[in-house]
Amino acid sequence: MLEFATEKLQDEGRQGEAFAPFENDPNAYKRRFYIESYGCQMNFADSEIVASVLNGEGFGATRNLEEADLIFINTCSIREKAEQTVRKRLTDFKKIKSRKPALLIGVLGCMAERLKAKFLEEEKLVDIVVGPDAYRNLPSLVEEAESGQKAVNVLLSRDETYADISPVRLNSNGITAYVSIMRGCNNMCSFCVVPFTRGRERSRDAGSIVQECTDLFNQGYREVTLLGQNVDSYYYLPSAEEENTIPVTFAMLLEKVAAISPLLRVRFSTSHPKDITDEVLHTMARHENICNYIHLPVQSGSSRILQLMNRTYTHEWYLGKVKRIRQIIPDCGISSDIIAGFCTETEEDHQETLQVMELSRYDMSYMFFYSERPGTLAHRRYRDDVPEEIKKRRLAEIVALQNRLSLESNQRDLGKSFRVLIEGDSKKSEKDWMGRNSQNKVIVFPKENHPYQKGDYVQVRVDDCTQATLLGKIIL
Ligand code: 5AD
Ligand code: SF4
Repeated sequence: MLEFATEKLQDEGRQGEAFAPFENDPNAYKRRFYIESYGCQMNFADSEIVASVLNGEGFGATRNLEEADLIFINTCSIREKAEQTVRKRLTDFKKIKSRKPALLIGVLGCMAERLKAKFLEEEKLVDIVVGPDAYRNLPSLVEEAESGQKAVNVLLSRDETYADISPVRLNSNGITAYVSIMRGCNNMCSFCVVPFTRGRERSRDAGSIVQECTDLFNQGYREVTLLGQNVDSYYYLPSAEEENTIPVTFAMLLEKVAAISPLLRVRFSTSHPKDITDEVLHTMARHENICNYIHLPVQSGSSRILQLMNRTYTHEWYLGKVKRIRQIIPDCGISSDIIAGFCTETEEDHQETLQVMELSRYDMSYMFFYSERPGTLAHRRYRDDVPEEIKKRRLAEIVALQNRLSLESNQRDLGKSFRVLIEGDSKKSEKDWMGRNSQNKVIVFPKENHPYQKGDYVQVRVDDCTQATLLGKIIL
């Protein structure tokens, strides 16, 4: 329960239903697919690629499970609990299939990659298994499955980036969108399954990224989040045939996207502390529309544990990076990912994690207890020897500290005013808007009689706050 309460918004359990992009014309597509996504933002972005590939083959999206001819579940392997959630959901789908035998069920993403054909043995009613680099192959896999064969493609690629596929936006608010800029990860953090499920790191063609962001802006979007497992190691080397053959770094890419329009906000995630450069920080400081917010996962505050995790920095080095960020971008929001109870973690190691949190003054953190993943370096090299009750107690202390830090961070904003991009109605009332400031904090404020719409920027003064939300008023 504790872990669930601290998961990422998109993490295990939040369902990403698809809506039909052509709902007004029910005859536009003969067949319908339903897709549900779990895990990181990357998975949600991938589902939009899948939707695009399927649209091209005459499948329309539906948000109604019962009307689907094809059900896809885009899966996450990051922690054991994520996989359990997916398996539970598959049993619901199987019930539908027992009433409707022609229905096809497909498993996509990291769990498909991890378990490969084994999935078909373990989950008998699954028809299609597709890894993250094989979505172009979906139409022929669906065809195979329709002819009664079990269809599997879990080949990882060194160069697939889906650069030319224009994602079909699912569940979009029409204002903010994710844009994938790279795939895979070369870091090999010892606890992490991602390098095994998503393969080698590769960067997407810079021109196609800028084009996708420009198209989004022209469609009315006002914020893009550039996504990658480790965005700071983005590096695109144009081919000899391209007009401009200068390699593009992440700082250069940020600059290009920021230049599309001052009205288009740019965010990015995730940064590895070892890779974020001063050049990136200066680029952020130079451009008003590159948001002052960095997600900088620390994972642990103990240098010994960091070494076992293969994070390649120490407690002190990390704090130096935070200091550098605050020097160059004084009002930068910083958030983190933290793992409690990694192999051999002692009480002193845990105290160092609490200390790093306090000194970094995180505005927000995603907090987990360690979950051993088969095949990872930690699984092969170390014993998962911290008892579960201790992991949970340490996690509870981390959560309690973060709650205090978040409240203190919000209290420091009382009386300040921020430029806020309106994303839509607040969850609680249609009379209030919800938006974010540059630091990625959610601000709720009354619409009053102002003529603003979602997608507009407004100046909001903060009068009150909770630990999670700033509350304010539009000022003119
Ligand atoms: N156990 C717990 N948390 C993990 N993460 C990644 N792998 C594991 C694991 N095996 C966390 C890290 C990472 C975030 C996306 O998930 O904190 O930054
Ligand atoms: Fe996993 Fe580390 Fe890569 Fe992040 S940087 S995806 S934690 S291996």
